Amino acid sequence: MVLEFFAMEFLGSNILSIDQFDRKDIDLVFKTADSLFPFASRQKITRVLQGAILSNMFFEPSTRTRISFGSAFNMLGGEVRETTEVEATSLSKGESLYDTSRVLSGYSDVIVMRHPDVGSVAEFAEASRVPVINGGDGDNEHPSQALLDLFTIQKELESHKKDISSARIALIGDLKYGRAVHSLCKILMLYENVSIKLVSPSKLKLPEFLVSELQKKSISFIETSDIKEGISDVDILYMTRIQEERFDSSSEANKYKGLMSLNQDIYTKNCEPNTVIMHPLPRDSRADANELDDDLNQNPNLAIYRQTDNGLLIRMALFALILGVSDKIHETSSSVNWFSNKS
Ligand code: CP
Repeated sequence: MVLEFFAMEFLGSNILSIDQFDRKDIDLVFKTADSLFPFASRQKITRVLQGAILSNMFFEPSTRTRISFGSAFNMLGGEVRETTEVEATSLSKGESLYDTSRVLSGYSDVIVMRHPDVGSVAEFAEASRVPVINGGDGDNEHPSQALLDLFTIQKELESHKKDISSARIALIGDLKYGRAVHSLCKILMLYENVSIKLVSPSKLKLPEFLVSELQKKSISFIETSDIKEGISDVDILYMTRIQEERFDSSSEANKYKGLMSLNQDIYTKNCEPNTVIMHPLPRDSRADANELDDDLNQNPNLAIYRQTDNGLLIRMALFALILGVSDKIHETSSSVNWFSNKS
């Protein structure tokens, strides 16, 4: 599904899809994110969102997205209310998304929502009286993940004196059901000279509508199910998990686990020096899957925790822009007066 949106107006906007963004919008998010580093790294604090309330509505499991959106809001001085499963809400009693949205938007200033159904967050946003951010809707999109991924890709490339304009990127694993990779693919298409390797089992290829978009935009890409071919001659490896929860059964998902795995030995033998390794996480560390082996943990090119740290900056930036406080943060800041060893 590729939606048509007009140029982005952040103030009061929903963030539902990467289709909303152009390169200028992305540059503004990244510039804002960079300016928030002193707050995310706890050198400074701000109360610029004092009194504001985020409702963090997660109807699917999450560690990073839920906690980092919540922490980002707290770090800007706001309060967070949250729900972590359908059973804990009146959706389980048959309440509609419309009613849930009408009610919750009366209690909040902004809402982040994750839901297993494609299009559900957009439906919720239609009824909402406050901005809604898509924290993942089924196998469709995960826009804030793509923003933090691109932010990380740019920083990693810069550290190797390279640049996004001609980056070579391999997207590896479950390209059919992975919403993070769908949003990432869309954002990469804004950079016409990137080249992309789509590396997946043949039954888990990137959806046809995204392949057509790559063709329409004349982005250089290949599709392969050979991981060794896929990981050679690229700047960035973006590994993904088999999205077991989207399959009809665990046994169906199990057929694909372990087919696209990276460890230090495979990396050393097949990758260029300093190839950056990314993953949206969670990685599936169970022995039958293990798409990103723990033996890469000490590899300096493993960027997965730099990625998660960047998620905080990007999510703070989105709140600052949507709620119109990006130019007021520094006016309201002060130094921290507790021990913090973050850097
Ligand atoms: N990357 C990501 O969405 O992680 P969580 O499912 O833990 O939020």
